[in-house]
Amino acid sequence: GFFAHPLRMYKGFWVHENMLPRVMALQDHFKPRPSDLILVTQPKSGTTWLKALLFAIMNRTNYTFAQHPLLTRNPHACVLFLEVPFRHRFPDLEAIPPPRLLATHLPYSILPSSVADCGCRLVYLCRDPKDVVVSLWHFAQKLKPDTMGLSEAFELFCDGFSFSGPIWDHMLEYWRESLRRSEKVLFLKYEEMMTEPVGNVRRLAEFVGRPFSEEEEKDGVVEEIVQLCSFEKLSNMEVNKKGVYEVGETTVPHESFFRKGKVGDWANHLSREMGEALDRIVQEKLAGSGLTFQAS
Ligand code: PPS
Repeated sequence: GFFAHPLRMYKGFWVHENMLPRVMALQDHFKPRPSDLILVTQPKSGTTWLKALLFAIMNRTNYTFAQHPLLTRNPHACVLFLEVPFRHRFPDLEAIPPPRLLATHLPYSILPSSVADCGCRLVYLCRDPKDVVVSLWHFAQKLKPDTMGLSEAFELFCDGFSFSGPIWDHMLEYWRESLRRSEKVLFLKYEEMMTEPVGNVRRLAEFVGRPFSEEEEKDGVVEEIVQLCSFEKLSNMEVNKKGVYEVGETTVPHESFFRKGKVGDWANHLSREMGEALDRIVQEKLAGSGLTFQAS
């Protein structure tokens, strides 16, 4: 299947070999628009959640909550990846009406250079690497059981070997860009979104130029969006329990995008020593940048 291809080092990052032609094509042909909004994550950092939230924020006047597309469509069908084929082919990005909502796992230095030049907005969501590696391993287990034990996956991850990894370099690139161009690059953490979803949804809406009106605040629109996109709500929808996401010739069950949706679940799977070891690596790699993760 699509994900069975080996990872290749490209410009300092691990990229699926079969994705390289697409990455090159994007570099040459992707025409970003100033109104574009690109959501960026490392796999398993909250991509599905961020897609749902921004889709709901951007489209909140187009649908009622009782008949919302997110009730019957998986977030990955609402917001497409730049570099990942959807239903056997790459999406025609030109055909998506503005303001386009797009997603990517690509590191900043592999994004088409036109993205930075055009000044469109990027939203980056990261997550504690300990929870990312545990989530990643469970996801891989679902798709291809018994390929690799968790301890082996953990060792590889600690060596920086993961899709679009090393994870710390991926974060650092966007972190620095968010400091340099805060009006165009918003840097968020999964853990903070979890503790304060309402405040962060307001922040997202402001960043994308669609702040909530007083009227909307009074009507509880922010809370409704948080509810609609919550793990509990999304994971219990029929479409997300039964449907599948087609990536090239691979089929990914929608339910595999929803496992626990908790902060700190790593502790149920990694030893304390493993957790501390990964924390040390991450701290060392991020040292001096100002980017840190709370101990969990
Ligand atoms: S992917 O394949 O990159 O799109 O996966 P991604 O969505 O980034 O990561 C999956 C993890 O996110 C959890 N998840 C959520 N958390 C909070 N709220 C919502 N709505 C939500 N939806 C999915 C999902 O459960 C995975 O994390 P773990 O820790 O494995 O539960």
